[in-house]
Amino acid sequence: MLGDIGIMSGQTGSYLRVLGHLLERGGLDRPVSGGSIGDALGLSRAAVWKGIKKLRGLGFRISGVPSKGYVIRSTPDLLVPPLVKNELRTDTFGHDYHYFPKTDSTNLRAKLLASHLQTGSLIVAEEQTQGQGRFKRHWLSPFGGIYMSLFLRPPLPPDVLGTITLVMGLAIARAIDESTDLRTAIKWPNDILIGNKKICGVLTWMSADLDRAAWVIVGAGLNVNIGAEFFSGSELDHASSLSAIAGRDFSRVSLISNILEKMEVVYERYINDGLSVFLPEIRKRDPLLGREIKIKTLTEVLEGVGKGIDEKGSLILGTHTGDEVSVTTGDVSILKNVT
Ligand code: BTN
Repeated sequence: MLGDIGIMSGQTGSYLRVLGHLLERGGLDRPVSGGSIGDALGLSRAAVWKGIKKLRGLGFRISGVPSKGYVIRSTPDLLVPPLVKNELRTDTFGHDYHYFPKTDSTNLRAKLLASHLQTGSLIVAEEQTQGQGRFKRHWLSPFGGIYMSLFLRPPLPPDVLGTITLVMGLAIARAIDESTDLRTAIKWPNDILIGNKKICGVLTWMSADLDRAAWVIVGAGLNVNIGAEFFSGSELDHASSLSAIAGRDFSRVSLISNILEKMEVVYERYINDGLSVFLPEIRKRDPLLGREIKIKTLTEVLEGVGKGIDEKGSLILGTHTGDEVSVTTGDVSILKNVT
């Protein structure tokens, strides 16, 4: 859908500056004259007109009111900076906002931009061509999802930061529940489920020396408004989207704003208090608890019963010999309920 606009561009194009100005000065009712937009943004009348045409092509309803100017009548659900910033209620998260209509991977973009980013910087794409999942899997990223990477510079050593994925997953889960009335679970260590369907995955990257992390990138792919048919092939039938589950679409602009708000609150607390304060809620949302599960680690495959998550963020597995093993990383599948 967005193939015709600035592919691979993280820059704020003129059309987005025109949109920002229209929203700021006119909101959704008051016309703003083409001349004043041009003066304020240093653009020619022709460039303003080109921006208006581009915005209309993207689904913005913009009327020209004779001798008064342009007025926005309605906006599409695009993750463009002016629309998201209009709803954002954070102190810092998402204020430095890098928007890509289409890119390879927002995590990759964040990594390449690292030296220019600070805590709370955000990379967002409407579509990804090389979306990355855990274990080098491909993350299919069609239009309708939210593909975002939050950049952080946590003042912590790398050994404690392994649990940040769980905590950021919790923030996303809280935001989804609040914005949709659906009920999410957090499947250790990085999946968000509704029922038994995965609707979101989190991929965390870190650069660190032994004492302190230089940066952490928390990438999240959330299936929002993607039709049920997209998931009907055998490879994707463990997954779904919010719209397919609820039978209606959701505002991605509201969702991403809410996610950032929850992430900011959770991150502050995590930096000061660590994982432990979040464990009761994470445990309540744990779909592996009491289930017969299989864990593929880097070196072996383990089977047993999910016994919860410990203070270090490891998954506790009750083995068939009666022992308890704590697993620090792996890929979990649910075999069956244990009654
Ligand atoms: C997983 O469940 O394996 C994690 C998937 C993470 C996907 C997101 S989409 C935004 C960000 N950019 C990427 O390339 N990957 C993450």
